[in-house]
Amino acid sequence: MELSLFLFIVCSVPVSHQYLLPDHVAPSHYQLRLMYDVDPNTNYSFYGVADIQISTKKATSKIILHAQNYMISEDKVSVVGQKDVPKVTGVKLNDTYNFLEITLDKDLEENKNYTLIIPFYGNLMRELDGVYISAYKDKKNGKTEYLIATQFQPISARKGFPCFDEPMFKSTFSLVLGHSKEYTAVSNMPLATSSLDNALEDYWPWDVVGKKFRKELSSFVWDEFDKSVPMSSYLVAFVVSKYSYKSAPNTSNTKFRIWARSDAIEQTSYASEVGPAVLSHFERWFNVSFPLPKQDMVAIPDFVAEGMENWGLVTYEDAALLYHDRESSLSDKERIASLIAHELAHQWFGNLVTMKSWSDLWLNEGFATFVASLGVNAIEPSWHADINNAVENTLTVFNLDVLESSHPVSVPLEDPTAITEIFDDISYSKGATLIRMMEMFLGEEAFREALHNYLIKYSYSNAEQDDLWSELNAVVMNKGALNNNMTVKQVMDTWTKQTGFPLVTVNRNYSDKSVNISQKRYVWRQEILSSQSWWIPLSIKCESGTEDPKLVWLSNEEGVLDDKHLEHGCDQNEWMLFNYNMMAPFRVNYDENNWKLLINTLTSDKYSVIPVEGRVQMLSDAFELAWNNQLDYGMTLQLASYLQREQEYLPLYTGLSGLSKISNVLKRSAEYGLFQEYVRMLITRIYQSGGLAVKNIVNGDDLNSVKIQVLSSSWACSMNVPGCEDNALEMFQQWMKTQNPDENNPIPVDLRSIVTCVGIHRGSEFHWSWSLERRNRSDVAATREHLLDSLACSRDVWILAKFLEWTLTENDELHRQESSRVISEVISSEVGYYVARDFIYNRIKDIHTAFYDQSEGITDIMKTLLGQFTTQKELDEFLSWQKRNDELLSESKMAVAQGIETARTNIQWVETMKPIFMDRLKEFIRTSSSTSF
Ligand SMILES: *[C@@H]1O[C@H](CO)[C@@H](O)[C@H](O)[C@H]1NC(C)=O
Ligand SMILES: *[C@@H]1O[C@H](CO)[C@@H](O)[C@H](O)[C@H]1NC(C)=O
Ligand SMILES: *[C@@H]1O[C@H](CO)[C@@H](O)[C@H](O)[C@H]1NC(C)=O
Ligand SMILES: *[C@@H]1O[C@H](CO)[C@@H](O)[C@H](O)[C@H]1NC(C)=O
Ligand SMILES: *[C@@H]1O[C@H](CO)[C@@H](O)[C@H](O)[C@H]1NC(C)=O
Ligand SMILES: *[C@@H]1O[C@H](CO)[C@@H](O)[C@H](O)[C@H]1NC(C)=O
Ligand SMILES: [Zn+2]
Repeated sequence: MELSLFLFIVCSVPVSHQYLLPDHVAPSHYQLRLMYDVDPNTNYSFYGVADIQISTKKATSKIILHAQNYMISEDKVSVVGQKDVPKVTGVKLNDTYNFLEITLDKDLEENKNYTLIIPFYGNLMRELDGVYISAYKDKKNGKTEYLIATQFQPISARKGFPCFDEPMFKSTFSLVLGHSKEYTAVSNMPLATSSLDNALEDYWPWDVVGKKFRKELSSFVWDEFDKSVPMSSYLVAFVVSKYSYKSAPNTSNTKFRIWARSDAIEQTSYASEVGPAVLSHFERWFNVSFPLPKQDMVAIPDFVAEGMENWGLVTYEDAALLYHDRESSLSDKERIASLIAHELAHQWFGNLVTMKSWSDLWLNEGFATFVASLGVNAIEPSWHADINNAVENTLTVFNLDVLESSHPVSVPLEDPTAITEIFDDISYSKGATLIRMMEMFLGEEAFREALHNYLIKYSYSNAEQDDLWSELNAVVMNKGALNNNMTVKQVMDTWTKQTGFPLVTVNRNYSDKSVNISQKRYVWRQEILSSQSWWIPLSIKCESGTEDPKLVWLSNEEGVLDDKHLEHGCDQNEWMLFNYNMMAPFRVNYDENNWKLLINTLTSDKYSVIPVEGRVQMLSDAFELAWNNQLDYGMTLQLASYLQREQEYLPLYTGLSGLSKISNVLKRSAEYGLFQEYVRMLITRIYQSGGLAVKNIVNGDDLNSVKIQVLSSSWACSMNVPGCEDNALEMFQQWMKTQNPDENNPIPVDLRSIVTCVGIHRGSEFHWSWSLERRNRSDVAATREHLLDSLACSRDVWILAKFLEWTLTENDELHRQESSRVISEVISSEVGYYVARDFIYNRIKDIHTAFYDQSEGITDIMKTLLGQFTTQKELDEFLSWQKRNDELLSESKMAVAQGIETARTNIQWVETMKPIFMDRLKEFIRTSSSTSF
């Protein structure tokens, strides 16, 4: 699954396993018969029968499985088997862990097979997980249409039907879906047959059902799907809708179809190119073929994640699958390609081989994230997805994992509610970063061979991280890919079982060329004593180095108490650069002289002798270390000044991210003007080369160039570069004057977000309403999304207040998952912060209800809110509010803790570092303006 959330886990408490099912019985096959009425007038009622074949591992008179959110027909629950079968004496649902306990009059015998039959019924809801109802407006006839979708990961399959809802319990599934003939059903496997007879008649005769549905038997159909391969319950999926589909030209033996509402079907073309190409690339890369005869991909209007990898039926939110030739930007295209690649990578990492327990979620998500870059690389090589993603992932790790309240990659879970919380940047980005690190130090060949072996050995089964280590190690032993006598497990356990990442400190001895190196965990509060250490691959480059230098390992025992001493460093007048290829997630600090040598090169014409990743590492380290008072800000400002020359997106993005952290805490203070002056110095030149400055995108096919133009235009307007907002305003007004603005938008698509934001910011209510109308008329998800974000740019407090109200009510303006996006956008906007903060404080109860008690949305807004604080007063106010609303925040505990920690560092920076920063800034501006900066 692909989410965009941040959370954490308390890991010092002893872990209890009460929430896990006992292992007396295990399912081997589910025969599921389900019948739905997609009709608000009958409250979306449904009926079901689950026939579950189970095998007994140990004798027991109690069967425990999961069920949630529907009624069980207790008197009809039974066990069948060959002879002498126990009778059911009790059926009890315990909500604590959603246990369905079935008690029997005597023991089931050991090593025997039985079938458990459970009839159930209920009503679907407009939630975002389980089996739920989604709605959309058909733009052609204006009618609201409904559909049924599923989202079972991680623990909502139990909301769909009674099941053993843990990844370990792999089974085959056979589904029969009854539904009105106006609808089409798709599931993991191909449709086998359709029948007009009620397939549930033995338990739910039409006499009963027809009265509830208030429909004729003849208007219904029962679709039966082929039996699935063995898989975990969270991968079961189906969609019942009035959608159309487009067949993709298949490049392998897999039939590929993309589904969408009919008015958006033209927008599936790009997905239908990318999907089959990526799938067959992975088949070749893993050397393991895709086992299913078909693969469907569907766009769902109400969707909690961006995508979900259900085997054979991948689901997406609209904007993550649908691409419009004229309305979607190049970034939208990039997002779609990488999301499709991510979900298809899961067909191997996750679906074929599944983690044993959610603790090792990173084995699914880290791999899918890493492998996705390879897939995108294969289809769009000019995008350089591998390096782009590697850098983005590493920077993400630096941001979250610096917190003491972060969590290890492989994380013990004490409670099922904590599972949702680990779908975070640690599992995705840190997981992917560590996998890339392994590929780099083992070499691609050894790495691929081991992955192939791992995928074959654990096919249709489960694995934990030690299983991966041992497959990698076996190949390594064979090939000698690790030159020391260390094991993969030794190295990797230091990265996956510990929270955080190291700071490597380098002190050079310039007279004898030797180097002293030390390591310790990098956190904001340096007084925290930590005994942690890592196996760190050090890739080191000297200024004059021509060939790729050798990898040096810092073992977990080196550089901790005493420095590691390297005899041969670089020559005394040349710089030495660590982690120049960003192989591993660690920070580097140097002695002052080495920093100066690096800065000299960087600020000269020869800056590109330092590789892009090395420039990113240096920029990121320099901003962070100065933020934390471990490097002089004067040095950082000077280093960053080279960005005037930078032609590559990644370093520019990194430098501006460092500045944005400062901007965030200065933006409401008196000194902001001076800060803006500095940033203008950095970006004006690059801003003038394209984008808003020329009211156009130049080199529109070059992703690097487009991203630079978009980024620099956006910063230029917010830093008041002369002409930027005026140009945006002019373009916005031109759009407003266009005949038929919904068809003809003259603004280059990649600049639309910035232009509409400025247009609304500088405009009146009329501009806001006009933009809202464009959003409502559009059937392109990307357009709707960027217009939604722009609506938060208004300067009118009352408009923002009205906007926020929409997040609480069922309405046509917003899809459910958009509510938290709106609140977060308003919080982080200039004037919106104050309105949104009061809104959250006063209305948290309503917000909670409006989010269907889903923790994801609350988590997002808490983190965004806390990230804005710069004074102790704000934090104190929050803390007392938090006390009063503890219960509503209980599922976002960890995000709140991380948010509070971030707020504390911001507040402390303002109190202690801001005066120093302003001093250095003034000095820098004074000296550089005299030397024609
Ligand atoms: C429900 O389950 C919890 C956790 O296993 C247990 O503590 C509690 O006693 C159970 N409640 C009932 C009514 O059985
Ligand atoms: C029980 O079911 C399993 C899985 O379907 C099968 O492999 C096994 O042979 C069965 N055992 C008996 C005793 O029928
Ligand atoms: C519809 O079903 C839901 C879920 O069972 C229930 O909460 C709600 O009260 C029902 N509404 C009506 C009008 O019956
Ligand atoms: C497409 O898939 C079908 C089976 O679904 C297969 O018969 C056909 O040969 C495939 N086409 C190509 C070009 O591989
Ligand atoms: C692919 O896997 C098969 C079976 O595991 C093996 O025989 C073959 O050599 C592999 N091909 C490549 C190119 O590695
Ligand atoms: C390899 O292991 C041996 C014996 O355990 C040890 O003496 C030696 O120092 C190790 N070599 C390296 C490079 O770590
Ligand atoms: Zn995923």
